[in-house]
Amino acid sequence: MFWRNVWINFAAILFVGLCLSLYDGAQWNDINWPLIRFVLPFALLVAMLIEIRWRGGSFYREKRLKEKADKERSAMIIAVDGPSASGKGTIARALAQEFGLPYLDTGLLYRAVGYAVARACGDPDKESDALAACGFDDALLDLPDLRSETTGGLASRVSVHPAVREALLERQLAFKNQIGGAVLDGRDIGTVIAPEADAKLFVTASAEARATRRFNEMQAKGEQPSFDNMLADIIKRDARDSGRAAAPLKPAQDADLLDTSEMTIAAAVRQAIMLVRDRIEGR
Ligand code: DC
Repeated sequence: MFWRNVWINFAAILFVGLCLSLYDGAQWNDINWPLIRFVLPFALLVAMLIEIRWRGGSFYREKRLKEKADKERSAMIIAVDGPSASGKGTIARALAQEFGLPYLDTGLLYRAVGYAVARACGDPDKESDALAACGFDDALLDLPDLRSETTGGLASRVSVHPAVREALLERQLAFKNQIGGAVLDGRDIGTVIAPEADAKLFVTASAEARATRRFNEMQAKGEQPSFDNMLADIIKRDARDSGRAAAPLKPAQDADLLDTSEMTIAAAVRQAIMLVRDRIEGR
């Protein structure tokens, strides 16, 4: 690039010089060719100086900045894992917005399977029943019922089966591998789905803090939940998600841990953005 531009400048200098000398009334025969031989290296030097001074100062700096921004955006994969109600969904969505990336909530896929099993009166603990539900209709993903605590429990149960995880794998890999990068959240993103992710966050919070969040959410919706039941459910789901043999919930070795127990949502999001920036600047 540099030399191509130098040669263009060089040709332009010679062309302008030649035009000026002919414009001055000179004839081809009058041109002092031996003198031009001395002028050529000088013209080349000027061409290089033009390239370095004019373009090096602006064009290349802009290009470098653009390359840096592109690197930050292009094909960046961010993995967010953590237990339920840790804030990972909110954080993953905020990261997707911050870095201009598409976002996939992988928990929703398992929820759809859990929901479809129950609707078909199948047994979520039976692998064949759960596997049969993996061909669910995509329209299911928009159902508000999918977000309920009951469906969350069913999702946790069907997610134990290796065949179910295998059936949902391709969809998650295709999302991760799309041009332009992606943010995915779940339980096994940093360890199984995207071990090569540019940034991995493991978002946690104490079981009490998470139960309180869920409790407040449900109360705000006008429901009358029992805090003790909620806490017991969370502890049970954590134990199932972390204790299963297939792709258990655990932080990847190179994940950044983010404990949101004592944080507001805004502070947790700020901290997550900072952690991801630190990672991608160092890549
Ligand atoms: O993130 P969530 O609460 O929507 O997830 C519901 C259940 O789905 C969770 O308890 C375990 C399972 N899950 C999983 O096994 N692997 C994932 N990547 C995402 C969710």
